[in-house]
Amino acid sequence: MLAARAGRIAVSPTMKVAAEAMKLKAQGVDVVDFGAGEPDFPTPSHVSDAAKAAIDANFTKYTTNSGTDELKRAVTARYREDYGVEYSPGEVIITAGGKQALFNAVMVLFGAGDEVITHMPGWPTLVEQIKLAEATPVIVRTHAEEGFRLRAGSLLAAVTPRTRGIIINSPGNPTGALISEEDLAAVADDAARRGIWVLLDLCYEKLIYDPVPHNLPAVLSSRLRDRSVLCGSASKAYAMTGWRCGWAIAPAAVVSAANALQSHSTSNVCSITQRAVQAALTGSQACVADMLGEYRNRRDQLCEWLAAEPRLRIVRPAGAFYLFPDVSDFLSPDGIRTSAELAQALLDDVRVAATPGEAFDSPGFIRISYATSLHELERGTARIIDYVRTLDVREAPAGA
Ligand SMILES: Cc1ncc(COP(=O)(O)O)c(C=O)c1O
Repeated sequence: MLAARAGRIAVSPTMKVAAEAMKLKAQGVDVVDFGAGEPDFPTPSHVSDAAKAAIDANFTKYTTNSGTDELKRAVTARYREDYGVEYSPGEVIITAGGKQALFNAVMVLFGAGDEVITHMPGWPTLVEQIKLAEATPVIVRTHAEEGFRLRAGSLLAAVTPRTRGIIINSPGNPTGALISEEDLAAVADDAARRGIWVLLDLCYEKLIYDPVPHNLPAVLSSRLRDRSVLCGSASKAYAMTGWRCGWAIAPAAVVSAANALQSHSTSNVCSITQRAVQAALTGSQACVADMLGEYRNRRDQLCEWLAAEPRLRIVRPAGAFYLFPDVSDFLSPDGIRTSAELAQALLDDVRVAATPGEAFDSPGFIRISYATSLHELERGTARIIDYVRTLDVREAPAGA
């Protein structure tokens, strides 16, 4: 009945858990929701005010398909100020979220017979988009024992003569891990020699907790400018997930092809949203710093609370707002066998929604989102710890 393309993809598994938790909450069930992939903060008021002003000014018609000039200039100005990189508005397209920025780029750059490298544990959409483009995803794994560090050596070892692209997400979902500037530089230099595209998913670029050098746009703009695509988003930085706005910064030919693709599908991003995001990018960035401070506090608390049960093995995340503990010590052939079963049991038995590692191609882990209040984090971690301690599995090592 359906086209073959439809059979190659499935609904985002991260959205599935969120939907189940939302349904239970709507029924009045006391669910602690650690599934959220979005900020719990309201959109900053000056941003919403700009949207209201746009409606009042009747700025409610089609805009240029690729976005307003004002918003493109706001994007280039933000990257100039934040990263010292210089791009022109002709190298920018405004998209319905970072997701569409990536989708456009993947669709116009890759096709049948191409291999595209990305990394796991990682955001499943990247792999699905590669498949939608009829290219072949090649997965490089990162490991908890190495802090999920993404190494240039592992990415480059996966390159073959068919490799056309490498897609990197840093800070990463679900691990919060960063790629270092040195590793990205090594990837970029090799990619430049071999004519490989590097796509950078910077969706969580504003959510980095510790003062580490992470000027990835400068690395790509100086070493691989004509073969790199920077994909950004207003969603997480400005608590604007529902407004749907992101952007891609890329060579003009890629922007032009992405523009053509978008012109036959979604057209321009909502005009009102564009005005709001312009206000977000050009206005005070204090709101971003405030939210970052709050997430940092939550990350630190969450790590401390979970440390009470050492069999929940955690890697302290450097960015984003997720923790990705290894729960395999609680799995057994005659008890709860998989992290998917554990996530379901947590939801059914103690009403905690967490996303199973299977959603990120990484069984044995669960993802806890800390885009929720400290109070909820405390209640939820207590429920998880109490629950896993009832499971009949190996004891914690003495003295742990
Ligand atoms: C790693 C990653 N990249 C990109 C996105 C896209 O977000 P949006 O389309 O809202 O900008 C998400 C959303 O969860 C994400 O986790």
